[in-house]
Amino acid sequence: MTLKAVIRGCGAFLPQKVLTNEDLSRLVDTSDDWIRERTGIRERHIAGDDEKTSDLATAAAKAALDAAGMAPDDIDLIIVATTTPDLTFPSTAAIVQAKLGIESGAAFDIQAVCTGFIYALSTAEKFLTSGQHKRALVIGAETFSRILDWNDRATCVLFGDGAGAFVLEAQDEQEAGARGVMNSYLRCDGRLVDLLYVDGGVSSTQSTGHVRMQGNKVFREAVKRISEAMERVIADAGVDVTDVDWFVPHQANERIILGVVKKLDLRKDQVISTISGQGNTSAASIPLAYCAGVADGRIKEGDLVLIEGMGGGLTWGAALMRA
Ligand code: UT7
Repeated sequence: MTLKAVIRGCGAFLPQKVLTNEDLSRLVDTSDDWIRERTGIRERHIAGDDEKTSDLATAAAKAALDAAGMAPDDIDLIIVATTTPDLTFPSTAAIVQAKLGIESGAAFDIQAVCTGFIYALSTAEKFLTSGQHKRALVIGAETFSRILDWNDRATCVLFGDGAGAFVLEAQDEQEAGARGVMNSYLRCDGRLVDLLYVDGGVSSTQSTGHVRMQGNKVFREAVKRISEAMERVIADAGVDVTDVDWFVPHQANERIILGVVKKLDLRKDQVISTISGQGNTSAASIPLAYCAGVADGRIKEGDLVLIEGMGGGLTWGAALMRA
């Protein structure tokens, strides 16, 4: 029996507190004009002092379970993609499992920064199609505001907090039809670690550290590597770029997204973009954008959806699925 991993539902959660570009211009030497023109961001959500990554993740997971018409007990695998875990250990996934009241199955985190959701989705797909697990919560969740240097205008204006989740179910080919994750393409080039990293960690400084980025160098790598991943994933699936209905990119910079759209000959109206109201929420940005597309009726069952991401590592990747 051939199994497929079908997306049964998705859910999103954003903290209530909003930080606008105007607010930021009172903190660092920046302006609404600069941020909007260079990135497309207008505002971003910031977690409250009492909100942890696991809280955001649990809220998104509950919304995804509701959308799927499932109960927490239906889930036997939780994968959380995050760079900002509640604790060094245990995993945020273990904490989410407890908050959902789930008492069995497996739970673990994946760390691939802004590519984390693609890595997590690809991993879940392998666990489900092998028959080892039946239903997975795949969550991208971040409190990135906690690792920002609020004196560094080159990074603190870019990021926001939030969480998005998918419920994936293993279904046999007959039941799934054309639906399901079709394939994915994951890459990393660790030689480029200095372009985007956090200057702290357990075994180096015993502190959390702050995000450091050579933004323009990352920018230069981004369009090239993301396009390569998207072209590969489309070719390996045996489809044509003209078959793609929706493009749900990682939301790092509007100019990167438009560069990729141009390179692949996609149309701007195929892009699901949340960057203006959310900024870059790292591993959460793809499921948040996907959920926005489902919520407003753009992404419908059976649509061909292409997702991509790039982040620290450098890591990058893409995946293709039928909703
Ligand atoms: O999600 C993970 C992957 N991350 C990315 O994909 C991010 C990729 N990089 C980018 O999105 C862009 O490089 C940035 C948005 C980070 C920066 O845009 P840029 O057009 O590459 O600007 P830049 O870094 O080349 O800096 C241009 C100027 C500099 O001033 P000088 O040296 O020309 O006088 C910066 O100091 O803009 C200055 N600058 C700012 N000015 C006002 C940098 N940040 C700011 C700011 N406000 N917030």
